[in-house]
Amino acid sequence: MSTTGNTTRRIPLIPLIRPVIDDTVKQRVLEVLDSGYLTEGAVTRDFEENVRRFVGAGHAMAVPSCTVGLEIALRAFGVGPGHEVIVPDYTYPATASVVNIVGALPVVVDVDPETMLVDYDALERAITPHTRAILPVSLFGNPLDYERLDDIRTRYGVYVIEDAACALGAAHAGTRAGAACDAAVFSFHPRKFITTGEGGMVTTNSAEHAAWMDAYKHFGLTASTPREAATFTTIGTNAKLSDILAAVGLAQMERIDELLARRLALAARYTELLDGMPGVTMPRTTPGGTHSYQTYCIHIDRRDHIMAALRAQGVEAQIGTYALHRQPAFANPATCRLSGPMPGSRQAADHCLALPLYHHMTDDDQRHVVRTLAEAMRTA
Ligand SMILES: Cc1ncc(COP(=O)(O)O)c(C=O)c1O
Repeated sequence: MSTTGNTTRRIPLIPLIRPVIDDTVKQRVLEVLDSGYLTEGAVTRDFEENVRRFVGAGHAMAVPSCTVGLEIALRAFGVGPGHEVIVPDYTYPATASVVNIVGALPVVVDVDPETMLVDYDALERAITPHTRAILPVSLFGNPLDYERLDDIRTRYGVYVIEDAACALGAAHAGTRAGAACDAAVFSFHPRKFITTGEGGMVTTNSAEHAAWMDAYKHFGLTASTPREAATFTTIGTNAKLSDILAAVGLAQMERIDELLARRLALAARYTELLDGMPGVTMPRTTPGGTHSYQTYCIHIDRRDHIMAALRAQGVEAQIGTYALHRQPAFANPATCRLSGPMPGSRQAADHCLALPLYHHMTDDDQRHVVRTLAEAMRTA
């Protein structure tokens, strides 16, 4: 247990995630603080350029969170009142909330129970003349099938905005998450392996939409130098990411290949250790895809019991994510349309368990997690 002020909290023996905050990260933050320039500036530009290059997209814009980035991306593609946007049922609620925030109607469809990604057939069935965009999620780092999405985009004339919150480093058929759709948005929340504390990044290949989003996130400002020549071309907001936070992300982006390789190795080790364990089913990676293992999930029966037993032993297991149709926020048919039953999402929501996975995890840690899981499954 540790005591911070008046609050006492239990420190898990094996946490779900632990960010990589080394001396370089700390040094970069100090440099920004010492510079006296604390808002968005040159460091954020470098961070954007690093992410853009890594992903292979044309443009990248830093934002305060994935949620804000998704909202801005929807606005950039003209999504608003009178439009429908299709989202998967099994996702973090922000995916659907942003559709409501821009005044459009989220239309929720089921997911494939094995990949836990949107059911492409259900998605196509839900398309109507009002559908302006689809907002699929490359959940947990499992990439979407970008070829299939591009085919849907072309046949139905809808925009594809990828919720890539968890997908930095994921790829499908050689294309990285963030480079394939009309726009994609990443999260740098501390659950993600590259983190800025809070933060996000929008990527797109469209210069026109990038310019609009860039202006929108800077109060609608198009040219800012010299300051007296600034022109406000659109209504805008303040969605900048400060250089302080960008410094944290930039120092990690500079070693992303190593950080990602380590994650993939840890995930492969889990797969080896869990192979053949009775009662454990592995989710399926999208065929042709490279999973980035933002989250390492398994499917088990009696998930909540087993999760509680793991936590009691200091292993910070967690549920995967949420079934939107079970959340009160999406229960009003006037503001959210559920498209058909959701057996795939229910299956994922009831069975998915996320296991601890972080850069400095040792082989002993992983074997301890798997042993504790096996014990819990026998006795819980
Ligand atoms: C699928 C998905 N979308 C959106 C978000 C929201 O991201 P942020 O916290 O950066 O706003 C999350 C958060 O984890 C997420 O998992």
